[in-house]
Amino acid sequence: MVMNCIDAGSENCPCYLALTGDCLTCSRLQGKDYCDCSWRGVCIYNEFKQLNGKINNPRKDFEVPIVERRTYMDDLVVFVLNVGKGFAIKASRPGSYLFMKTKDALNFYEVPISVMKADVEKGYLHLGVKIISAKTKALLQEEDSFVIRGPYRNGLQGIQTILGKRVPGHSVLVLAKGIGIAPAILACQYLCHRRIVDMVIDTEKISKELISDYLDENTFECYEGAAMSSGIIKYLPFSEEEGKKEIEALMKEKGYHSVIILTSDYYIETLGKLAKEILPHADLAMSNNFRICCGEGLCGSCSLETVTGDTIKMCKCQLTGEELLEKRASW
Ligand SMILES: Cc1cc2nc3c(=O)[nH]c(=O)nc-3n(C[C@H](O)[C@H](O)[C@H](O)COP(=O)(O)OP(=O)(O)OC[C@H]3O[C@@H](n4cnc5c(N)ncnc54)[C@H](O)[C@@H]3O)c2cc1C
Ligand code: FES
Repeated sequence: MVMNCIDAGSENCPCYLALTGDCLTCSRLQGKDYCDCSWRGVCIYNEFKQLNGKINNPRKDFEVPIVERRTYMDDLVVFVLNVGKGFAIKASRPGSYLFMKTKDALNFYEVPISVMKADVEKGYLHLGVKIISAKTKALLQEEDSFVIRGPYRNGLQGIQTILGKRVPGHSVLVLAKGIGIAPAILACQYLCHRRIVDMVIDTEKISKELISDYLDENTFECYEGAAMSSGIIKYLPFSEEEGKKEIEALMKEKGYHSVIILTSDYYIETLGKLAKEILPHADLAMSNNFRICCGEGLCGSCSLETVTGDTIKMCKCQLTGEELLEKRASW
């Protein structure tokens, strides 16, 4: 089976999966003696041979200083890390996330955390962490530095909805709840140039202060330096009928071209169905909520078995939002 791999053709390709004949994209690196892949970029097989059968740029742990720590709620903290300009540029792509842990912790403690804001001028990343249990509580103990690894790219499914449509007048609705606001902020930073971005946020479990710090029209900037001026930001409770009705009315009124849902799986399903009903032609993207532990397609914690018995590693595989929504029912 050939899957769309988020890392195909990137500086991290070929990866560990090529070494064991498990590349998600290249049929030759899956052990076949012919090519039947649909990959249109640089030939992965050729790259692997050129590298003498080695993997390209394996992501490594490194220590970075904490330059700021802001507590928004008892269980919501933002860490600003100095990762250097090169890393910050790479991590500015929507859907980027890192693994982080305290410097003395064992690798079991690594937590996948989305990049919320990339300040490429300073080389800083802003990360919002919701404190839940052992791994995230351990992060709270650290004052000086973290060990990070990344950036990883598959924090969102349906990523082409965001990366592929840089057309003036293209309208996007972003629906975010809880810590889904973190990837939403990064996606909006990318989207707001030349596109109309409306946001609906459910502030349950999240601080309005954090939202205004990062999304206020005076502080929220596109990469090109223009403030987010074209869209609206609304606050609605997704769990209440009134909230759903307002989202429905907004979809009907604005006829969005794309809808991005950054919430728990429950709301991905309900709001995704609503979007497909009202806006059948809209592209969908959503948060990748699978259990991600290595991010490299190795450990198997994110594996899904399809109805045909194939295993998909969701840390690497990229589906369209529609595929994810449809397939969820059959998995
Ligand atoms: C791509 C991605 C990006 C994320 N971005 C953020 C973020 O920006 N901020 C943030 O606060 N949280 C984020 N998370 C979720 C965060 O990783 C989990 O909340 C954290 O691992 C919980 O660990 P814990 O020990 O504190 O709590 P636990 O009690 O272990 O878990 C609490 C909840 O988190 C889920 N979880 C635990 N481990 C993982 C894991 N390895 N991958 C996915 N879910 C897990 C559990 O199933 C449970 O629902 C992200 C997860 C993923 C997959
Ligand atoms: S997270 Fe390890 S295989 Fe996907």
